Amino acid sequence: MSFLFNQKKDVAKKTGEKIDMSNIPQHIAIIMDGNGRWAKKRGLVRSLGHRAGMEAVKRVVKASSEIGVKYLTLYAFSTENWKRPVDEINSLMNLLIEYLGREIDELNRNNVKINFIGDISKIPDKCKSKIEEAEKITMNNSGLVLNIALNYGGKDEIVNAVKNICKSILEGKLNLSDIDENVVSNNLYTAGQPDPDLIIRPSGELRISNFMLWQSAYSELWFSDILWPDFDKENLIDAIADYQKRNRRFGGI
Ligand code: IPE
Ligand code: IPE
Ligand code: MG
Repeated sequence: MSFLFNQKKDVAKKTGEKIDMSNIPQHIAIIMDGNGRWAKKRGLVRSLGHRAGMEAVKRVVKASSEIGVKYLTLYAFSTENWKRPVDEINSLMNLLIEYLGREIDELNRNNVKINFIGDISKIPDKCKSKIEEAEKITMNNSGLVLNIALNYGGKDEIVNAVKNICKSILEGKLNLSDIDENVVSNNLYTAGQPDPDLIIRPSGELRISNFMLWQSAYSELWFSDILWPDFDKENLIDAIADYQKRNRRFGGI
């Protein structure tokens, strides 16, 4: 059953009472944090926290689609997360395979376009093939763009962009004087996409943790103590409502 088409009207009416449907952030990015603490609080192993986090992903993707967000970026695994025990890394990769396997048909029916950002070359092969498959199946969809940030690091992304740009210069395709902010943006994993309007970080941590360092230059930040597995549509609406109260000046007056 397609969640979008059945519920869109109702949802718009209900959520429209809390948020201005004509001022929805075009791009929302989320640092999905707090799975381990959620599990610990319940005496569960960390991997069960990640599994519960996957349910929050489903809720938030569905809600974002219904609300009319155009780009949703979910930080799933950072370049620093390789420091974790190998069992935990494996369970995160396996969960991603499970998520794509289970959800791809519904995401596709709902016109969601899946796009991975990050250095996918370092991801285990069985995971990589699922990623490529999911991107291929949803390639022509025109609804929500779901960026999944995997082996993503903001610094790594900038280093990669610098290398690409230098290569273009060495090959004579670009002049030094041509390099501007657009050239840099167009060499990031998010090339062609608008920068996030709103970055959400649950779990109580007040930091960016190497997420979208370039793209967050003028993002509005929203922090909350909620642990990611508890995050739901109401929390997303609260974040959007707060965002709508902000005065975005971009350096102006
Ligand atoms: C999920 O939360 C974030 C990932 C890296 C997958 P954590 O696993 O970091 O949870 P906490 O911070 O230990 O609670
Ligand atoms: C940030 O969470 C990375 C992801 C959500 C994927 P972490 O749990 O890795 O961040 P730190 O270590 O607390 O900064
Ligand atoms: Mg964490």
